[in-house]
This record gives sequence, structure tokens and C-alpha cells, in this order.
Amino acid sequence: MRTIRTVVDTATKMKQVVDTAGKCDLLKGKILANVFFEPSTRTRCSFEAAMKRLGGEVINVSASGSSSKKGETLQDTMRCLACYTDSIVLRHPMKGSSALASKYLDVPLLNAGDGAGEHPTQALLDLFTIYSELKRYPEGAHVALLGDLKYGRTVHSLVQILAQFSGVRLSYVAPDALQMPEYIEKAVSDVKTSKFYDKFVPATQAKYSSLDDVIDTVDVLYVTRIQKERFEKPEEYKKYQGSYIISQETLDKMKKNAVIMHPLPRVGEILEEVDSDPRAAYFRQMRNGMFTRMALLALVNGCFSK
Ligand code: NCD
Repeated sequence: MRTIRTVVDTATKMKQVVDTAGKCDLLKGKILANVFFEPSTRTRCSFEAAMKRLGGEVINVSASGSSSKKGETLQDTMRCLACYTDSIVLRHPMKGSSALASKYLDVPLLNAGDGAGEHPTQALLDLFTIYSELKRYPEGAHVALLGDLKYGRTVHSLVQILAQFSGVRLSYVAPDALQMPEYIEKAVSDVKTSKFYDKFVPATQAKYSSLDDVIDTVDVLYVTRIQKERFEKPEEYKKYQGSYIISQETLDKMKKNAVIMHPLPRVGEILEEVDSDPRAAYFRQMRNGMFTRMALLALVNGCFSK
């Protein structure tokens, strides 16, 4: 929890740096390996922009341009990059890839998405966004997570962070077959106490198939896309495509001060007519990604440590 708040506080400072000076020299002389073995726009570019705004440099590595094409193991590729750089960001299609790679490394590794596993840096930028939008931490907040909760790695990481705050209500809205995995539910329900609160109230979790069951009370609506690339058969994906669509009609049912988030990319789950509503926070969320990643890069490179 202390670390989570440190990231949010540091991201707040990074936003000030960017808003006032554009960049700084905090990581001058440092090099980041930005390794993406799966497609990415936001995560890859925000890490690169973050490193550059901190005065550091970036080596970009993709699957097609690296020796993984020749059959090199992930751990060997990563060990190689660790010889040249001070920290590594890894996105990889295999669940558990970052945990595996980190065993072989003596430089900090940031998991930028491991298949249908986790996406912790996204969860931190999501928390920073919730904090910025609500102007407080999410104690007592009702957060609804909508869409593909089975394969959507962002929600797997986000609910585990939210569970650290007292009294959070988590509503999982998804088709039965795409509901939140049991091991994530268990990780959330295992958070039973916290030394950061006098009276900690553990998170509640409930599953729904209809958004209408919760929409009028949500403080944060976190929308995700159905993860087409994770389905074994394309027909399976087609069954769920378009299951939930956020429109003006949805907005009309929501609280006036609710927040709508989406890790993006969207592929039709939120209609463009929603974008101009002040509750639509997903473009601000995207920019917050850069501030949060500046914070993470500064912290893992040893800045601000005593
Ligand atoms: C997410 C991801 O890659 O998991 N995107 C992102 O990092 N902003 C969500 C997604 O692809 O649906």
C-alpha cells in the first residue's frame, strides 16, 4: 500500500514536471529496453515517451526484429538486453513470462502485459486516474468492471490493487463464460486486513450479466474490449462481440459524478457520442499512463530512494 501511494504521489509530481517544463534530466545516462512481443500503441509509446521525458534513452525490441525469430529463448534474449540497459519493460503473449524472465535478471523488469495474465503498470495508471478523477482514493467506492473479465489482464491487476482500499464494492459484469477467473476472486478475498486502516472493511465481489443491475450506483465504470486474440475459435469471439455497448442511454442512467474508464483500444464498446461527456475519462487515463510510467521508471532506477 505504501508503494502504491508512492507511485501515485510520484505520478502527480511527474504530471507537474510535464505540464511546466515538458521534461527533466532525472534519468540522464540511463537506458531502457522496451521489449514488445505483442502489439501495443499506448503501453509501448507511453514507456518510450516517459523515458525520454526523464532524459533517458530507449532501445525498442520487437519479436520480428529480434533473435526470438531464430528460436532464442525468452530468458536468453532478456539476459542479453540486461547487459546493455538499466531496466527492461516486457510485453509477451505467454502468461507468467515476466515472472519467468525476472528470475534471470539483475536489472529491474516491468511487466507490460503477460498474455491473459496481468498488466500491473496499467492498474497503477488506472488507480492514478481514479484518484485524479474522484480527487480521493477509492475507499467505499463502487467499481463495476465490464466486458471480458476472463482474458482482460488489466482488470486482473486492477481489482487486486483496489482490494487494498477499505470498503470497495466490486461488481463484475460479463457474460458467464467471460467472468472473472476464480484465482483472481480468491486473491481479492484473501485481502482481509490492512495495517493502513484502523477498521479495514474487505472488498465485496459480485457477478452480474446485465449492466442495468448496477449502473445507477457505480462510481467508476471500467469498460474492456472482448479480447479477440485470446479465443481459440473465431466463432467463440463472435458470440460475445458487441455484448455491451456504452451509449448516451447508458450515460442517462449513471450518477452525475461517475467516471467512465477504458484501457483502450476500444472496438465499439463505447460509442463516440460518449466521448464529450465530462464523465468519459479514458483519454485523460491514456495521458496518465505516461505520468505513471515516468514515476515507475524513476522509482525502479533508484530515484528518490534514501
Ligand atoms: C490493454 C492490454 O494490452 O491489455 N491495452 C493497454 O495496455 N492499454 C487492453 C486491451 O488490449 O484490451
